[in-house]
Formats: sequence, structure tokens, C-alpha cells
Amino acid sequence: MTEKISTIILSGQERLKEVLKLYLNERDDFELQEDCSDLSEIYNTLSSLPKSLLIIDLDASTQKKYYDFILKVAEDCPNCRVAAVYENPTIDALVKIMRSGAKEVLSSPVIKGEFFEVLNRIKEQLNDDYQKVNRCRMVTVFSNKGGIGKTSIATNLALELAKTTKENVALIDLNFQLGDITTFMDLKPSFNISYMLKNLDKLNKDFLFNTLEKYKNTSLYVLADPPYFKQAEDISPKQVAKLFEILKETFSYIVVDTDNTFDGKTITALDNSDMLFLVTIVNLPALRNCQRCLDLFEKLGYEDDKIKIVINRYMENDEIKAEDVEKLLAKEIYWKIPNNYFSLMAAINKGVPVSELNPASNVSQSYRELAIHVADTIHRQKLIKKIVSNSVENLNNILRG
Ligand SMILES: Nc1ncnc2c1ncn2[C@@H]1O[C@H](COP(=O)(O)OP(=O)(O)OP(=O)(O)O)[C@@H](O)[C@H]1O
Ligand SMILES: [Mg+2]
Repeated sequence: MTEKISTIILSGQERLKEVLKLYLNERDDFELQEDCSDLSEIYNTLSSLPKSLLIIDLDASTQKKYYDFILKVAEDCPNCRVAAVYENPTIDALVKIMRSGAKEVLSSPVIKGEFFEVLNRIKEQLNDDYQKVNRCRMVTVFSNKGGIGKTSIATNLALELAKTTKENVALIDLNFQLGDITTFMDLKPSFNISYMLKNLDKLNKDFLFNTLEKYKNTSLYVLADPPYFKQAEDISPKQVAKLFEILKETFSYIVVDTDNTFDGKTITALDNSDMLFLVTIVNLPALRNCQRCLDLFEKLGYEDDKIKIVINRYMENDEIKAEDVEKLLAKEIYWKIPNNYFSLMAAINKGVPVSELNPASNVSQSYRELAIHVADTIHRQKLIKKIVSNSVENLNNILRG
């Protein structure tokens, strides 16, 4: 499935907008977004889109305001390209436009052939960058203790990631014995992980989007556990690794729910993850287990930064305080999810994630902020990579004269 490049035209000239619209209508790789002239609204849209193009019409009256805007978009939105339209640009104006971050300049009136060449170049750059910058990120939610809140966290995190980023998110149930995700989300999927693994050679983007269960009107796709124990026994870690490889090519985020054992498939998920949420509650037996897991992760050679301690059912007035937990584990707590038994139980009994049933509850808010935090961390990493590669590109340009 090729993703269309969402395009926004920012211009006060109706004639120019009409011409560009006509040209864009001939392209099936670009898709015009709704007309909008509010800069903060445009900025928010561009920040959330996976691939976008902003065509901005510069004239003497708008130049100052728009240069700053282009600069902000170029800095903050690594997946957006800016093309400036300018009537008879002088060399000075051209240099200024390029410095502000616009990658292409079109002289007005815009000629179709030139416009299409610019679109082709932008498409190529975005596709290249997308591959380089937009690597899929995988989060595995784990604990070697049962009933600690793994499925609640994985389900709500995946849903909030999909809602926040609008990107495609896959939620995978690796609990092959007693997976709960379909119950938590009231889904009756036609296909499950065992079917996927039997068809590994057919797996590609289209196959995945057609067989994973889309959750309502969101960009969340669910892959359920196999319904029969026998099917689960036949699944090897090698097959699971292959499945992750293909999922990573297709989705922006993968969230994996696990069971409580360190078996081959769980280790495969942990190995392949960018973030590993080690979930615990604040009591001594759970924390001791957590210590054992941390020891094992060290032996497995996982970087300390990959492992994130998530405290579930946190209560401010607990006897053991967050600082005590950090001391005991010799590690910072990444996230604390408040205790809210009634909201969680009501959601589970209705088969609706709590962030949907009761979005205003403290626990839903915590899942939402966690998703934003995960996406932000990832966005920041992408941005840093982008800035580094841009500086190298700029340096090379300067050296080339
Ligand atoms: N933040 C929370 N506050 C209160 N109760 C919670 C919270 N998170 C989870 N629970 C409750 O804890 C129980 C177990 O949650 P969940 O099924 O998510 O855990 P799990 O680790 O996936 O369990 P299993 O090991 O069986 O897969 C559920 O009854 C759920 O309602
Ligand atoms: Mg579970």
C-alpha cells in the first residue's frame, strides 16, 4: 500500500490555488488536504502527518511571517517538505527561501511540467527519508508475574498511540495460552497469529492490512492469540522473529502483550523491541521479581536505556514510596499508572478499553500521556537523526562550494 503525500496549499491567490488543485488532481500519489489559512492549524496537521508537502505562496506582504513559519515546519516536521512559490525570485530571495528550509522553489505562474518535476523530487526525498528516519518502533510489555496489568497497559497504550499519532499501530497478543486482548477489546477476529505464521511466505503489507483486525475507526490493528493450545505449540521463535520483521516494515509502532514466562517467543519479542516495559506493582515480592528480571536482561545484553520500569496501580500513600523503589532497583521509574480498580473493571467487563469508556479518568489520562511520551521520545530520536543528517548535508554543500 503506497501512502499518498498529503498536500496543503497556503496562498491568498484563488487563481493560483485553482491551478495547483487541477494539476494535483492528475496525480494519484499526492492528496490535497482541506483548504486552511490558520498557521497553527496547518502546523498541527503537518506535525501529525506521516508524509506531507506544504506549498506556500510568498509575496512581499507575507514573506516575513512565512519565512519564520517555513523555518519552524522544516525544523519540527521531518516528514514534511516545503515548496515555495515566488514571482520572479532574485538570487537573494532564492538564497533566503532555501535558508528558511524550503527544499524547492517554483516560479509563478506555475508551469505543469516544472511542477510535476518538483513533485517527483519531493516524493523521492520523502520516501528515502521515510525509510531512513521512520523506522518502526516496538514496545513489549512484560512481567514475570501474572495479573500485574500487562494487557491493560498494552491495549490502552496501543489505542492511545494510534489516536495520538494517527499512524498505523499493531497490537500483538503473544500470550499463546490465555491471551486476553480480544476480550479486553470485544473483538472476534477472523484470523489469528497461527494463521499468519502458516502463511509467512505470503505476508506483505496488503496481506497484513487485510488479515489483522482493525479496531473500530482507528489506525490500530490487532493480531490475536491462537484459539487452540495445539496451534500454539506448533509456533517456533524463528517464525515469530520473521513475523516481527515483516510487521516492522509495515507499521509505525508495534505493541506486544506477553505472558509471564521467559520462553523463546517472549525472548524474541524482547530482543526485537526498542523499549521494554517491565511492569511491577509496589510490593516486595513483585519488586524482587523485577530485580531478577533486570539481572536477566543484563545477562541478555540489553542496554539499560531500553528497559523502562512501569509501576502499575500506583498510590501516592503507599507504604513503599517511588524513591524506595528506585533505590531498590537502582533504576529510575519511567512511568507510574494510578490505581483505579473500578474504572478498569468496568472497562474489562464491557470489553472496551478504559481510555475509550472513561477517557476523563486518571488512569486513561495516564495511558494517554504515556503514549504521547513514547511517541515524543521516538519523534525526538527521529528529529536528532534528521538534524545530524541535515548538518552533514549542509556541510557537504559548503565544502562543494
Ligand atoms: N491501573 C490499574 N488499577 C487498578 N486495577 C488494575 C490496573 N491495571 C490493571 N488492573 C486490574 O488488574 C487485573 C489484571 O490486569 P491485566 O489482565 O491487565 O494483567 P496481566 O498482567 O495482563 O494479567 P495476566 O498475567 O493474566 O495476563 C485486572 O482485573 C485489571 O482490572
Ligand atoms: Mg494479560
